[in-house]
Amino acid sequence: MNDSEIGPTLLSMPDNSSQSVTLEGRSLILAKRRGDFFLFENNCPHANETMDPLGGSLSDESGDLLRCQRHGAEFLTDTGECVAGPCMGESLTPIAFTIAGGQIYLD
Ligand code: FES
Repeated sequence: MNDSEIGPTLLSMPDNSSQSVTLEGRSLILAKRRGDFFLFENNCPHANETMDPLGGSLSDESGDLLRCQRHGAEFLTDTGECVAGPCMGESLTPIAFTIAGGQIYLD
């Protein structure tokens, strides 16, 4: 595995969860919601800080929301739009990717 791809173990990550990954030197959040994957810069627009200083998943039980661990901003998993908390109306930066052969590649 080189640093531009994510291996199949991540593709089998639990549904309705997220985890931080580093690809091509970029800190990213990979989220899985009801079988679909979403990828964002790991940068909260509230304070321009990483969202997961405590580690672990940012997803709520439904998988519909990602919650920043710093001040609780909530983002839609599918679009990255902030819908609650101190940066409402702002968005996470989505990252384009392709899944092929059981791996995720940055476009
Ligand atoms: S840095 Fe994310 S809510 Fe403040």
